[in-house]
Amino acid sequence: MEENTSIPVALPRLNEKAPEFTAVTTQGEINFPSDYRGKWVILFSHPADFTPVCTTEFLTFAAQKEKFANVNCDLVGLSVDGLYSHIAWLRTIKEKISYRGMKDVEVDFPLIEDITMNVAKKYGMIQPGEDNTKAVRAVFIIDPESKVRAMIYYPLSLGRNFDEIYRALVALQTADAFDVATPADWRPGDDVIVGPAGSCGQAKERMDGNEEMECQDWFFCSKKLDEKKVWDEVLVNGETSPEPVLQK
Ligand code: BEZ
Repeated sequence: MEENTSIPVALPRLNEKAPEFTAVTTQGEINFPSDYRGKWVILFSHPADFTPVCTTEFLTFAAQKEKFANVNCDLVGLSVDGLYSHIAWLRTIKEKISYRGMKDVEVDFPLIEDITMNVAKKYGMIQPGEDNTKAVRAVFIIDPESKVRAMIYYPLSLGRNFDEIYRALVALQTADAFDVATPADWRPGDDVIVGPAGSCGQAKERMDGNEEMECQDWFFCSKKLDEKKVWDEVLVNGETSPEPVLQK
């Protein structure tokens, strides 16, 4: 692939407000991120309509829409294609395509038309080293105050893991609600990390013994966080337990 660096690539930054745009989508016009204030929202891009990896991703995300809605999170997709192409592709997915037991799936979250690449450029979705006109597979997790809280970029050839996107979303919500951090591969029910000691006195106190946390060293302290407490905090819509994970 020839390199072309003429397209300016802006990257959003963590903890800053999500770049604003108005766009036409398969569910009508949206004003982003203002239409989603008070909710978490995942904005994700894909390279093109009528391509196989993207089709498996859309089936998977659409099949899990309720699972995301139950933790107060909406989904918004984007590709550098037109509205009629989007409509035709989503109809084909529902009528003809099955993947891992998912079939007859209606994609009823908004899919943005972005022929002008206006949105894709604002969000660093066009990465010329990968392709000049196709958006890479980007995922932005945006919080209820419209701040960008996580960004994940995948190349064209790599389909995303939606369990990981859901895990990251629940981990961010848990960190906010309980003022903790989450360690590698954390899942609800696992121990969480307590913030670092802020003074020599606090470091000593932690090593002398603390009923609430377990410290292997002054900088490495964790504590229990009951799985039910996590779900009680993050689930909405009267849900009391999460949806089952992906079908095999
Ligand atoms: C796909 O979704 O199948 C795909 C899209 C662009 C490049 C490679 C694969």
